[in-house]
Amino acid sequence: MTKYKTEILKPTKNNIDKCVKEIKKGNIVAFPTETVYGLGANALNTKAVKKIFIAKGRPQDNPLILHIANKNDLYKYVLNVPKKAEILINKYWPGPLTIILKKNKIVPNITTANLNSVAIRIPENKIALKLISKSNLPLAAPSANTSGKPSPTTAKHVYDDLKEKINYILDGHKCQIGIESTVIDFTSKTPIILRPGKITKEMIEKQIGKINVWKNKNSKKVKSPGMKYRHYSPKAQVILLKNISEVKNILKQNPKTKIASITKSKVNIKLSKKTNYKNDEELAKNIFSFFRDCDKKNIEIIIVEIPKDVGLGNAILNRLRKSASIIIE
Ligand code: TXA
Ligand code: MG
Repeated sequence: MTKYKTEILKPTKNNIDKCVKEIKKGNIVAFPTETVYGLGANALNTKAVKKIFIAKGRPQDNPLILHIANKNDLYKYVLNVPKKAEILINKYWPGPLTIILKKNKIVPNITTANLNSVAIRIPENKIALKLISKSNLPLAAPSANTSGKPSPTTAKHVYDDLKEKINYILDGHKCQIGIESTVIDFTSKTPIILRPGKITKEMIEKQIGKINVWKNKNSKKVKSPGMKYRHYSPKAQVILLKNISEVKNILKQNPKTKIASITKSKVNIKLSKKTNYKNDEELAKNIFSFFRDCDKKNIEIIIVEIPKDVGLGNAILNRLRKSASIIIE
């Protein structure tokens, strides 16, 4: 396989132009968005999109999101835009909201993993918008991590996962939001949230009325999910705790283990690494980078105090449940 000399680039005009050329050549470029870093390629070029799947080690049955810069471009890629979708687009684009609609033939099957629908969003990040509009192409872009790992929220995270696999990473510092966009599907009768995010169910229902939320049948109350559902995962075992006094018991049961915690409450016990968060915004922004820092320090157990299951907390909890092996509620 070709080894690339991966460069982290400041988002100057020259460097953005360099990345535009790279995209037009049919190669892939990592770029910042307000949610997480994306790994972009020309969404209409089958060969280019294939490179994304290879670089990430992503299963080919997992479809990609098209990133566009201009609302009018949406109509090039979908069969129709229902009124309710249009209301949300007008309210929340550019921003962390991905809409799924019936696709038209111009979008290749590889991009949508053979589905007859396509996911689309306009990101808010200025660097992303410049890259997309100067390329004058829709960019297919999943999160720029190795498949299964926590999503990247800095250029360095992307570098750690994808060095030698891509030429350029545009550096936009730390992502503002820190978890991926809300994904809402408009291809069935009642719109349904497939992935919760910063734009919450309540915010959406205020605009368009009742919607559904996808429920993972496999998530049980006490201990879940099993290993095969792990995702967004650090090397360490993630334990979610409702009651922070449980930390003592975990430490007792694992006396020689390197343990880290990220909690809202103060933990008055000596651990290998401790961080406090003030609110859900701060937790969302830092959770994936905390996981990655723990890996660097060879932490074996990460304890996370469970946020309340409302608003942004609901979206964070969705990611945490997928990365955790034990949940003590
Ligand atoms: O915030 C984000 O959405 C980031 C940034 C880079 O934009 N992107 C991102 O992409 O998180 P990715 O590929 O890591 O996650 C996209 C999610 C996946 O769960 C995928 O299965 C789903 O969206 N998806 C994409 N197209 C779909 C479709 N046509 N039908 C159902 N789900 C779809
Ligand atoms: Mg992802």
